[in-house]
Amino acid sequence: MKNFTQFESLALGQELIDLAKSYKNDSRKDISKGIGKRVGCIFLNPSLRTRVSTQIAAQNLGMEPIVLNMDKEGWALEMKDGEVMNKGTVEHIKDAAGVLGTYFDVLAIRAFPTLTQKNEDTEDFVLNQFIRHSGIPIVSLESAIRHPLQSLADMITMKENTPSGKRPKVVLTWAPHIKAIPHAVANSFSEWALGMEYDLTITHPEGYELDEKFTKGATLEYDQSKALQDADFVYVKNWSSFNDYGKIHSTDPSWMLTEAHLSKAPDAKVMHCLPVRRNLELSDEILDSDRSLVQRQAENRIYAAQAVLSKIIG
Ligand code: CP
Repeated sequence: MKNFTQFESLALGQELIDLAKSYKNDSRKDISKGIGKRVGCIFLNPSLRTRVSTQIAAQNLGMEPIVLNMDKEGWALEMKDGEVMNKGTVEHIKDAAGVLGTYFDVLAIRAFPTLTQKNEDTEDFVLNQFIRHSGIPIVSLESAIRHPLQSLADMITMKENTPSGKRPKVVLTWAPHIKAIPHAVANSFSEWALGMEYDLTITHPEGYELDEKFTKGATLEYDQSKALQDADFVYVKNWSSFNDYGKIHSTDPSWMLTEAHLSKAPDAKVMHCLPVRRNLELSDEILDSDRSLVQRQAENRIYAAQAVLSKIIG
């Protein structure tokens, strides 16, 4: 595995889940594996979980993580080839990524979408510029269209909470939000859940259809109460419109998950990648109940990142 930017195969997904679970049992068992190696964690956007869990994961392998908040502390980057740089940008991605490629063994990048330039976002332009110009392995810390480390942690969490031999019903439900939110978590969750052969239903108001590239094979159900019936896992997430790119079409509060919504899914566990806007996306009563797996998901981010880094440097 050279880069980790998306779901690749059931076999690799299973291998990474098993490796992550082994690190959860003994986080320092490969402490000497990464000695002498550095991972650069490059953030073009804010983060709590991804920033900290990736550093802990690297340290558990004996690697040295160095974080650069490039949006605040680096030079303003020019991403487009052939530009005359006579405006606000100071350094070209070709030069910056080339330099970082000589400083590190692995680069991990967070680069959110613009939510205004649909073509640029859907081709994951910024992440691909880093891949093109750094010359070293790249780990996505959430790109314009995917958040694979989150999804790997989500798959680990579902596996831990599924009785052996059962194929659970998984529901991805849209939730209200006041801001235009990227599609990356929802896309990636769908891509991984389908890739790992879960029974996936996606529910959202009309107009919030995700890019079919990520959802082909899932059941689409516009009636949230029908979708939630007999669910084993309910993944709650807001995203903005994909077809009317980056726009908010609804903030309907009736889509916020409460206990009443789960009357026909008595055993459902509830998931969210965090950060969550309480009582807007998801109710306190759910988040603070035994149904909630959100803290387990966040904890598993460490072991997901550790498995990925271990596989790349190994
Ligand atoms: N879930 C997640 O990626 O959290 P952060 O944005 O805080 O890293």
